[in-house]
Amino acid sequence: MRILAFESSCDETAVAIVRDGRWIEHHRIASQSELHRLFGGIVPETAARAHLVNIVPLLEETLAWADGSGLALDAVAVTHGPGLAGALVVGVNVAKAVAYARGLPLLGINHLEGHLYANWLLAPGEEAEPPRFPLVGLIVSGAHSDLVLMPEHGRYVRLGRTRDDAAGEAFDKVARMLGLGFPGGPAIQRAAERGDPARFSLPRAWLPGSYDFSFSGLKTAVLRLLDALGPAPPVADVAASFQAALVEVLATKTAQAAAEYGAAQVVLAGGVAANQPLRQALAERVGDRLRVPPVPLCTDNAAMIGAAAYYRWQQGARATFALDAQPNLPIDQP
Ligand code: KG4
Ligand code: ZN
Repeated sequence: MRILAFESSCDETAVAIVRDGRWIEHHRIASQSELHRLFGGIVPETAARAHLVNIVPLLEETLAWADGSGLALDAVAVTHGPGLAGALVVGVNVAKAVAYARGLPLLGINHLEGHLYANWLLAPGEEAEPPRFPLVGLIVSGAHSDLVLMPEHGRYVRLGRTRDDAAGEAFDKVARMLGLGFPGGPAIQRAAERGDPARFSLPRAWLPGSYDFSFSGLKTAVLRLLDALGPAPPVADVAASFQAALVEVLATKTAQAAAEYGAAQVVLAGGVAANQPLRQALAERVGDRLRVPPVPLCTDNAAMIGAAAYYRWQQGARATFALDAQPNLPIDQP
């Protein structure tokens, strides 16, 4: 089964074709990072307009490729939430238009579920066992930090979430304080490579008895530290100390949840899953049970939506043309 998938929930416009929920046959992303770098962050209205400009050429190229290769499409899938309302609306309406024009069934996919399914994806011709259930997933992106138990396809029990900033948001805000630019995660990771993570002792919010996270105290502690350090702070050491604090909390709590729920596999997902020290810290704690997507599939893409859609399809999910953007859709709701 071949699914044409769309993603436009935040600042990447993406279109992909995925076969049987695993094999990426075609994959295109138009990133808006350059545009948002000008403003030091994502301006929702600007993001929505950029999706509108980018999505049609991506779609035309993808359809021309599929038609030219003689590949028949079986369904259309699109992220319908969570995300920026104006951005989601662009993908949802283009997906509806294609489904209508080609007489194909339509599926609405939860963006966070999509991030988890990046762990199912393979290149054409590649073979690997899919992740095993029950699994514990850590979804860490620019807008979310959710720890979930996934007993089987399509079922999610949210164990914890952030009470304030998302992990990616903390990376982005601290990067801005350090003058490292946008997006902050990769910039902090790079700066930290030259820094001493033990130079500054920054707070870890353990929130005992809960799998929730909180990063605003850490962010404020960095702000105070920078005030105290004056006009020429040791940027690499501050970046490394911040990253170490955040990574330790994420990795430790995820490993605790994996132990408590007897997870056969631990999967990392979302833009922050690209972070090398986080991958390493989790691998140290859960060993070869850890699965992480290749770095380019950690950040927003449409292939992950095509993968999630295949398993939803098998469970009988179908959307109608009433499908609409749901900016606040939680992970435990399809
Ligand atoms: O999943 P994503 O592409 O978009 C959302 O759904 O939010 O995640 C983007 C987030 C940004 O906050 C970015 O700074 C962060 O992922 N990120 C990273 C790294 N690469 C991207 N954070 C830490 N280390 C990285 N290498
Ligand atoms: Zn995302």
